[in-house]
Amino acid sequence: MTTFAPPRNILTPVAPPRIIEPVYSDAEYERMFDVIKREGPWGTIISHHFETVDEVIATVSGVIPPDHGLTLDDIAGPHFRGFFAKNSVSFYPELDDIFFNSRFLAEVKSYWKAEYAKPTLMLFNICGPHNTGLAPHLDAVTFRGVRIENTPVWLQNIMGKSGLFNDYLVKMAQIITWWYRGEPGGFTYWPDGPFEPPHVLHAPMWNRGVVVQNEMMYHRGDPVGPPEDRAIEGMKCRSVFGYDDSDDSWAVTTDGEVIRRYRPEQIRLLVHWNAEVYADMDEVKKVMDHTDDLTHERVFDTLLTDMRSRGVKVATPSDPLHDVEFIQALMHTYDIQATTDWLTEEG
Ligand SMILES: [Fe+2]
Repeated sequence: MTTFAPPRNILTPVAPPRIIEPVYSDAEYERMFDVIKREGPWGTIISHHFETVDEVIATVSGVIPPDHGLTLDDIAGPHFRGFFAKNSVSFYPELDDIFFNSRFLAEVKSYWKAEYAKPTLMLFNICGPHNTGLAPHLDAVTFRGVRIENTPVWLQNIMGKSGLFNDYLVKMAQIITWWYRGEPGGFTYWPDGPFEPPHVLHAPMWNRGVVVQNEMMYHRGDPVGPPEDRAIEGMKCRSVFGYDDSDDSWAVTTDGEVIRRYRPEQIRLLVHWNAEVYADMDEVKKVMDHTDDLTHERVFDTLLTDMRSRGVKVATPSDPLHDVEFIQALMHTYDIQATTDWLTEEG
């Protein structure tokens, strides 16, 4: 079997992340926070994107044996997500000007040295103190023809890690911003690639952000809050998170029962704004006119051919988007382990 030996420069962003502070005005923050309070409750991050544990592991990094026997409930943490905008559509009129934000567009064009950009997605993650998985991940890697709108994120990220589809990569950049007065709860990222030591943006941080290419850079959110505050009982993938204005608290609820409450000062908020970037008008046209798109069929053919050329025994799946054996073969073939700073730090 030919082992997968990625080049040293795989998963290295186009430019070093740029830290910016402040990012939003107080009024913008309040408008976003009001939507989060009013429109909840919000589902777990895991519930938004995954059907099996195998899909989660293929999306992040590392491997898990086929007979793991785990369900999403076993790995779902109390970290919740909602969307302000998707597919370039803003969902809340009072946030339109924040989503279609010319200052942010200028930032990401400058980051890429590109001529054009458009906002595509804006989401938030919200949580109180909790333990997190320590494995780094990529955000959904986007290719011409294979995108979050038509593809599960695990497949997008396997494609990213494989390095086989880089000619089809859609340029993207994000502005990620945090508000958290506690600690720890920072952001660990690998700007020099997975084989070099990571950098850390430490909490507390309030309205501090970073311009990044998170789909080509391993990163992770660190465990949040003091260890003694992190425990939670009764957490499920279907648990939800909402604001309770009767006592200004935030509650995690499972099947209608409150299993954990947090005080306002325990809340960590992350807002993720995402744009597509185009080097020039030729690239705008190539993406918009779909003149050079990948298809799912071609992606599966390429992956199967590449795995078999490495001696991996893998059957042609009949339903490749949901075939656990296929996902297992992919995750084991294209795993890229990042340097493991946490082995000493967290035990
Ligand atoms: Fe991420």
